[in-house]
Amino acid sequence: MFRLGARTFTTTARRAAQSVAEMEAPNAYGIGVSKAQGVVKGLTGAIGNTPLIRLNHISDATGCEVLGKAEFMNPGGSIKDRAALFVVKDAEEKGLLKTGGTVVEGTAGNTGIGLAHVCRSKGYKCVIYMPNTQSQGKIDLLRLLGAEVYPVPAVAFDNPENYNHQAKRHAERLENAVWTNQFDNIANRQAHIETTGPEIWAQTKGKVDAFTCATGTGGTLAGVTRYLKTVSDVFLGGSSWKRAAFVYPVWGKLTERAGSSITEGIGQGRVTDNLGQDIDLLDGSMHISDEKSIEQVYRCLDEEGLYLGASSCLNVAAAKELAENLGKGHTVVTMLCDGAYRYADRLFSKKWLTEKKLLGAIPKHLEKYIVLP
Ligand SMILES: Cc1ncc(COP(=O)(O)O)c(C=O)c1O
Repeated sequence: MFRLGARTFTTTARRAAQSVAEMEAPNAYGIGVSKAQGVVKGLTGAIGNTPLIRLNHISDATGCEVLGKAEFMNPGGSIKDRAALFVVKDAEEKGLLKTGGTVVEGTAGNTGIGLAHVCRSKGYKCVIYMPNTQSQGKIDLLRLLGAEVYPVPAVAFDNPENYNHQAKRHAERLENAVWTNQFDNIANRQAHIETTGPEIWAQTKGKVDAFTCATGTGGTLAGVTRYLKTVSDVFLGGSSWKRAAFVYPVWGKLTERAGSSITEGIGQGRVTDNLGQDIDLLDGSMHISDEKSIEQVYRCLDEEGLYLGASSCLNVAAAKELAENLGKGHTVVTMLCDGAYRYADRLFSKKWLTEKKLLGAIPKHLEKYIVLP
């Protein structure tokens, strides 16, 4: 009995080991996408390898495969965990950051949360500068993640007291410290060349007709576009990858600097070094209004069961439009950057929607989700 049990156990263990090995072995498209199901080393090992979710409702409606990369499943809850990990790794590799060192960044959002997580797991100190217009909730969250937070007067980028410049000077004053500079540090874009792009390629088995995402630093769009353009040249021939697209929230051309949006985490008044590297690879741009983005927040919740932030839903609205333009049978991929948790007090508040003149954008049958006064 015991012997049989032992033999059964050994066989099962061998099969399990085999299947882990299979999971982790690169497949024909170059990456073991099921790695997330195995054991990873520390928090940083859990960054990336996010699922690619078929948006069933939109896919069925458009006759396309519309797929969203579930970046809200990263340990820090957003796409920026990838950039945070890569800018820290880059500083380590360049010898700028050694044991017990300090990472300094100017950020009001997800990059700070990603960096705070990565720094804790690697034993670095994390210092964050942000405009003092940001909510107490954001400051509290970063502090409870162990970061030192400096809310400073909200002034324009060309003012030396802007939070980014203050972050840079803070790092310069310290020994063994680095200003990670997410906007112009191309290690950010590299994260998406080495992880996001290959994951999308492997998960779709090389069938991607279009990719679209909005830009903050531009790291995601540039990195994914660079990777997909490169491998499609290898696997599909130069002309097959024609339809990468990018989205600005409220303006259509890269040279335009004006405009505003309710959408946090995106919108950029300049071509960053991350974006500048690959700008010529982009095939087009789209304009998605705040009305469309907010409607999509409610539709994603109701129709797809996905509780997503506004930038993700802007991306989904763009992917849907792109799918409609391309016609049936195409595969369109976009990014689900983070969840709605941090924005719920606005996105689902009647007062906020009214103030932003967006209440009318919510379809009548979805008003039941406006649960906050
Ligand atoms: C919620 C959210 N969406 C999208 C982005 C844009 O990503 P990227 O900086 O790679 O352009 C960010 C960046 O901070 C973000 O926080």
